[in-house]
Amino acid sequence: MNRIWNSRFAKPAVFSLCLLPLLVLAWRWQANELGINRIETVARFSGNWTLRLLLASLCITPLRRLPGQSGLIRFRRMTGLFAFFYAALHALHYYAIDVQWNAEIIWEDLRIRRFFIAGMLSLLLMVPLAATSFQAAIRWMGGKRWQLLHRLAYLSAVAGVVHFFWQGKAALWTPIYYGIFLGALLLYRVGYWGLRRRA
Ligand code: HEM
Repeated sequence: MNRIWNSRFAKPAVFSLCLLPLLVLAWRWQANELGINRIETVARFSGNWTLRLLLASLCITPLRRLPGQSGLIRFRRMTGLFAFFYAALHALHYYAIDVQWNAEIIWEDLRIRRFFIAGMLSLLLMVPLAATSFQAAIRWMGGKRWQLLHRLAYLSAVAGVVHFFWQGKAALWTPIYYGIFLGALLLYRVGYWGLRRRA
């Protein structure tokens, strides 16, 4: 498989795949195919893609340890940055289109609605990750500190799943499925770390 992952077409292909949800959304928007509640459809679509891409970027670490899959590491930064991009779009859509920068609503949301607090936390945790996702930042911080900081991606994903769960509107099973998936990834990380320490 590494031959495929390392080919020069792989990165543009993954980039296009990550961009596809945005293109689908833009297409449905201009064709007026977002249903009666356009705002809710966009919020749900962008929120789900944020979480999917965040989980996809977290999957890369365990998958690349399988034989012949080390080349997958080339896509970790890209999927992580796309998760941040969709998260920013998701939040911007809410603030600019849904509540139209109404400071009172925004403050009220963040003060009393735990659903918004979890969403904001998840987004804020992604900021230092995106800001240090470049080679120069790794050199500047040193590999160990950089790796430690980038574990925040797990916390961001936990906050994202909790945000979805607390929304309470959608079928409850979807955030539970995301949660089980994330739990399995976390379990793997803890197990791997434990084994390495013992060795
Ligand atoms: C400031 C940050 C954020 C704000 C203001 C925000 C706001 C919202 C709103 C208004 C909804 C729609 C609720 C409805 O159905 O009416 C929503 C849903 C959702 N958001 Fe966020 N969100 C934020 C951050 C995030 C982040 C970082 C993630 C992912 C890691 C995320 C994932 C989701 C998901 C999965 C849904 C539910 C989609 C569904 O119902 O299928 N959100 N969010």
